[in-house]
Formats: sequence, structure tokens, C-alpha cells
Amino acid sequence: MDMGFRVFWWNMLRPDIFKLLLLFSLVCCAAASVTYDHRAIVINGQRKILISGSIHYPRSTPEMWPDLIQKAKAGGLDVIQTYVFWNGHEPSPGNYYFEDRYDLVKFIKVVQQAGLYVHLRIGPYVCAEWNFGGFPVWLKFVPGIAFRTDNGPFKAAMQKFTEKIVSMMKAEKLFETQGGPIILSQIENEFGPVEWEIGAPGKAYTKWAAQMALGLDTGVPWVMCKQEDAPDPVIDTCNGFYCENFKPNNNNKPKMWTENWTGWYTEFGGPVPHRPAEDLAFSVVRFIQNGGSFVNYYMYHGGTNFGRTAGGPFIATSYDYDAPIDEFGLPRDPKWGHLRDLHKAIKLCESALVSGDPTVNSLGDNQEAHVFKSKSGACAAFLANYDTKSSTKVSFGNAQYDLPPWSISILPDCKTVVFNTARLGAQSSQMKMTPVNSAFSWESYNEETASADDDDSTARNGLWEQVYVTRDSTDYLWYMTDVQIDPNEGFLKNGQSPLLTIFSAGHALHVFINGHLSGTVYGGLDNPKLTFSDVVKLTAGINKISLLSIAVGLPNVGLHFETWNAGVLGPVTLKGLNEGTRDLSKQKWSYKIGLKGEALSLHTVSGSTSVDWVEGSLLTTKQPLTWYKTTFRAPEGNDPLALDMNSMGKGQIWINGQSIGRHWPGYKAHGGCGDCSYAGTYSDKKCRTNCGEASQRWYHVPRSWLNPSGNLLVVFEEWGGDPTGISLVKRTAASVCADIFEGQPTLKNWGMLTTGKINRPKAHLWCPPGQKISQIKFASYGLPQGTCGSFREGSCHAHKSYDAPQRNCIGKQSCSVTVAPEVFGGDPCPGNMKKLSVEAICS
Ligand code: GAL
Repeated sequence: MDMGFRVFWWNMLRPDIFKLLLLFSLVCCAAASVTYDHRAIVINGQRKILISGSIHYPRSTPEMWPDLIQKAKAGGLDVIQTYVFWNGHEPSPGNYYFEDRYDLVKFIKVVQQAGLYVHLRIGPYVCAEWNFGGFPVWLKFVPGIAFRTDNGPFKAAMQKFTEKIVSMMKAEKLFETQGGPIILSQIENEFGPVEWEIGAPGKAYTKWAAQMALGLDTGVPWVMCKQEDAPDPVIDTCNGFYCENFKPNNNNKPKMWTENWTGWYTEFGGPVPHRPAEDLAFSVVRFIQNGGSFVNYYMYHGGTNFGRTAGGPFIATSYDYDAPIDEFGLPRDPKWGHLRDLHKAIKLCESALVSGDPTVNSLGDNQEAHVFKSKSGACAAFLANYDTKSSTKVSFGNAQYDLPPWSISILPDCKTVVFNTARLGAQSSQMKMTPVNSAFSWESYNEETASADDDDSTARNGLWEQVYVTRDSTDYLWYMTDVQIDPNEGFLKNGQSPLLTIFSAGHALHVFINGHLSGTVYGGLDNPKLTFSDVVKLTAGINKISLLSIAVGLPNVGLHFETWNAGVLGPVTLKGLNEGTRDLSKQKWSYKIGLKGEALSLHTVSGSTSVDWVEGSLLTTKQPLTWYKTTFRAPEGNDPLALDMNSMGKGQIWINGQSIGRHWPGYKAHGGCGDCSYAGTYSDKKCRTNCGEASQRWYHVPRSWLNPSGNLLVVFEEWGGDPTGISLVKRTAASVCADIFEGQPTLKNWGMLTTGKINRPKAHLWCPPGQKISQIKFASYGLPQGTCGSFREGSCHAHKSYDAPQRNCIGKQSCSVTVAPEVFGGDPCPGNMKKLSVEAICS
């Protein structure tokens, strides 16, 4: 074929080729390739700076998902990350469940509809403060099994479940290469530290897991987090409060942070952790300025450990995590808004960031500039001050820049500061919980103390491990035995009662002697084991000892946690008898799995009618092992709801048969709750609240679980509590605050580059939908002190501080006030760096 002929044919065909290409792109080109290089994840040939956030689908309701995802999108996220929760999906071998809160496909499609990507962490080990780390409890009883090591039965089960999930995703066309939103997957979870401890079998298992995953041909990259030896092409990634110094194990892999902990989880008995927004933003920018290109917030919405899904022992029902979206689905400000602003600032730098590695220059003892430049002339700079105490002025380019302590400024054009990690442009909110119902009218039913004579008990010799007996079908296991006391026992005459000592592997225990509660003991955060040791009242003849052993979540982390025990393993001894000490451990014990009320399904609408409840003056309060029920109307409106359980001790709550989770307000938080400065290295022990109070007082009631009226609320109380103190509350904003420095960088600076105006930041305030600003509770332009909710005037205060906020804001849902001297009647203290602090009441 000569050249002219070829050109002729090409010209003839071209329009059709274009048509075909066009058609192809319409049909399929939502599908994209996902690869990576040294610098970033590459989607359809483009390197991306990706901001991701963890939202675990079973920790909220499907009705909440669209709103949570929209708030994540509005907060500037590109990716939603979730684990896959094996024990929720395969409650018994081969019997799968993907409905309701476990509708994984639906969740991913909601993310897709919002236009975001998904990072699917299949695990199937997930840790996650989730019961048994996500493993089904039946897996423990597969003969010859050992979890997370080079073990045949385990690997077979893990492969089967992983294949099941991957094929489901493929069938629904959910991988990015199929036009779906999933751009990344994860196999295993933080296995590196375990491998380090167990050696050779661990190494072999890592290799196997990677090969097995790669063999599933998802078309998108796999990651292994905290796994320094992740085999190529699997990407090893970092988890932690800071990850700026992390380097992947191969220079052709991007630097990724799969878990930036936005706070920390709450344990029953522990204080509630908080991580300041300024430090969280600082950690992100440190990572980005050092060449990081993927950051995931763990958690972005933590949510709730409904039912018995909390890991443990002692993980609380709330998994709020101090995340940017709170447990109830409301933005947590300033954290949510500050990160939104941060993400905008980072995105302004994206083209320079993805061009290559930064150059780093020192600007002082504790100050640095990180500069990214592209061939086409884009330039982005990050000016950092690592000093924890002092602000400082640095010179960069032809200008000077103020840097607060422990902060980084972002300059998307290498000149203009649009964001500083320690300067909150976003407002803060103070939330309140307000009762919405008139008092509940309660009925009670007393759970029976089980005894060895009960028909439905099983006798065995000696003491048996709790999870072995219950298979974790319930928290409760009765251990019952008879003790024969001879009429000639000395203690019957001298009045010196014998000492009963019980050793239990945990997690909580009630001791009943002849039907009467003799004591309650429970383990602690450092050690789930417990010991009961007290004198007990015994009489001549047969005495009935009934021990109610209670599990509070199975372990989710630790070397071979599947072998850890719970329940009364002994010894159990009786001291002070004529014979000296009698060992009861080896004698005959009877077992009863669960409570009578559980067997009768008292928590359900139909089951609750199966017993006679009492009310009014007969209502039992402050008695152990009591069931309570009431019905109530759903409150008007859309505000999130919770139960205030402060008057109760320990137990479980259900609404219309759905489990709200375990309550344990009787466990008061011990530990340190000190002052909290955002500056300086954060750890989960810094910045905690609730010391001396209940670790968890409020329990989320999803709106979608309620009917307009006749909602059945059932509470099982183990310790004894006063149900008349329980109330249904709604969560709303009490007040909103802004705390803005004069000259503070704002994203608006960006537009001013062209107009050349000086920077006059604004304090923005807004109340949630349905609420308006009714009062300015505090306003001070000058040198005010304190934080939102506790502002006070400082040594310098403009007398007209209230005028502008009152004028601009009262009666409005949102408003703004410019932070400049003339707005407040002149400069109250020239030469000082002033700010405006304002708190407005929303009602
Ligand atoms: C990580 C783990 C997460 C979660 C977190 C603590 O090590 O990967 O699943 O448990 O710790 O909240």
C-alpha cells in the first residue's frame, strides 16, 4: 500500500473511528485505570492527591448513609474508606447476610452516587475495636485453626471470604476499572508487628496473603498497612497520629497514610479522648509537605457499636472517636470546618504537588520551607514552625510570614498564605442534649436468678471457658453449683462467715448466694481478669451458688487473641470451714446460657408480652437483674436522638427489637483529664474529658428505628438503676463561636491576589437548619481569652465589640463580621495582634 492510499483510507475511516470512540466513551468510560508511581495513585493517567475518610457502614443506619457521605463530600473528601465486617456477613458458616446495616453493595453505591471513590479494606481481619476483630466466633472452633498465620484451615477460610467479597464487587461492577468507585483494596490489617513477633510462619503468611489477593485480579492496587515487607506490587502504608517520616518499601510506590487517627476510641471506665483540630491539620500538612499523596482520616464518622458489635473487652457503645462528623451524624466544629478549609488549600496546590518531590530549606532552628514546582511553572510552598511554644516570623521569597507555634502555612502560589493549621477560620459549635419527652411510665420484670435445679441447665464437671460454652451467642453465662454445709460447721456457731474467692478471666461477675446478690466485680482496662473475695452467708444444708459471668466484647487485637479466655476458670474456694479451705473448682457445675428474658425475647414487641410486668408502686428500682419496658412517641423534627442513661448501672437497651448496644454509665472514667494545648505531640492520653463521670452517658437512637408512636423501649439492668431517671434527648447546637485573628489567612486571599487588597478576615457564624441566632452571648475584639463556651475579656477589649455582631447576626441563620478595628469603633490596643472572639446562641 502506498502512502497516499493509506491516507485516503484513514480519512475515509476517521469519522467512524471517532464515532466509535465517542460511543465507547459514553458506554464505558466511567471506567478508568488505577495505577501508581512514586508520587501518587494514578487514575486514568493522572496523579492524584487524595483525601479519604473512614466511615464504617454497620456503625450507622442505611438511612444515615447518604447524609454522612454528602457531609464527607462537602468536607472535601475524595475517598470513603471502610473495612468489611466478616462476622456481620457470615453469622454461621456459609450463611451470608448483606441486608440493612450490612448492605455493603448499597453503601458503596451511595458513595458512587455522590461521586466519591472507595477504599475497600477487606481484611478480613479488621481490628477496629469491633467484636473479635471482625472474625466470626465460629471460626475459632474450626478444627486445627490458628488465626493470622501460616495455617491451612485459616488461610482457606480467609481466602473463601475474600473471594466472596471480590466476586460480589465484580458482579456489581464496583471496581474503578469496571466503572465503579473502588480504587483501592486492602488485604490483612497491620500484620507487620505480628509477623515481627511470630517470625517465619508470619513471613510465609504475608507472602501468601499478598499473592492470594493479587490473584483475585481486581484491576486496582492492593495495600497492606503497617507491613514493611509487603511484596510488590502491594503498597505498604502508614497508620498513626503522625506519618511524615514514613517511606514505602520501594521507591516506585506512593507515600500513603491509611489511618490518621482523628481522636481515639472510648472504653467503659476510661475518659473520652479528643484530638485538637489544629494538631490534626498540622499532621496532615507535615505528611503532604514531605511528599505524601493519600491521607485517610480514621475515623471521619465513627458512629455507634450497635448490638454486641463492640470489641473489647470494655469498648464503649459510642464509637464517636472525636471524628469530624460526630456519632450522631452532625459536623463536629471546628474540626469538620477546619479540615474542609485545609482540603481546599491542599487542592489549590495539587498541580505543583504531583509534579515531583519538594525541595526543603531551613528557615530557622525549628522552621522549614517545603517547595514544590512543576515544569509548567506551578509553585506551592509550605512554611512550617515546629516550635511548640513560640510564634515566629520567617523570611521566604521576598516577604515575611508570621507562623504560630506548631503550625504550617500553605501558599498555593509560593506567595499568598491561604491557610495556617493553627488558625481556625471555621466556627466552633457547642452542642447540647435537651429532653424531648415527658417522663416515661415504666413497667418492670425481675429476671430470675438461675439455679442448678433449672431444667434448661446442663451439668458438667469443673469450670468451663465462657466463649466455648456460649459461642458468644449472648454476653451472659450462669455458673451454678451446690455447697453442702454441715450443721456442725464452726462458723454457724461463732458467726465468722466463710470467705468465698472466685478467680475469673473476665469480664464482669455477679455473685448470688441462695438467690441474693452477694457482690459484683468487673475487670479493668489494663486487665480484664477479676477476683471476687468476700465473706458469704451460708446456712446448714444445701446452699446455692449462682455466678452470672458477663462478657463485654471479645478482644479485637493482640497475639492470637482467639485463644484468650473469658468466664470463671477458677480456682473457686471456700475458706473458714472445719476442713479448712474447700476447693469448689473441680466439683459439678451447672451451666445456663443467657438470661431467661433473652430466651423469651423480652426485647421484642411480641416477646415482651410473654411475662407479667408490674408498674406503679410495684415497679422495682435499684434492684439487680431487672427488665424495664415502656412505650413512647417519636419526637417531632429531624434532630438526632439519644437516651440519657445516667441513672442506670450496666446492661443493654433495645428499641422496637433493635439493639442500641450495651450501657454502662455506672463505670466511671478514671485516668487523667488535664489541660489541653493543641501544640506538641499528640497521644491518646492527651486532651481527655469525663474523668470521674460516666465514660458514656448518652446512647444514640437512630431516627429510622422509630415509628410515629408506640415505640417499645426495653432496658435490661444488671446492677440496679433508677429507670425514672432515663430520658430521651435531642442533640442540637447550643451556641456557635468564631475566634478570628486580624490579618489571619483565609482562602479568600486567593482571589485577592489579582485585586491586591489587604486581607480582612471575617468571622462567619451559622446555626444548623431550623435554628437562628437569638443572642450574642460574648463578643470581644482585642485580646480575649478562653475557648468557645468559656471566652472572657482580656487586658484589651473594644467597648463596641458587641455592636457589629448584634447588628449582623441576631435573627439570622448565618452571618459574618469583618475583623478590623473600624468595625469595633477603633483600635483598642495599637501594636498588639488582636482577635475577635464571639459566641452566639442558636435557638
Ligand atoms: C489501628 C487499627 C484500627 C483501629 C485503630 C485504633 O491499629 O488498624 O482498626 O483498631 O488502630 O482505633
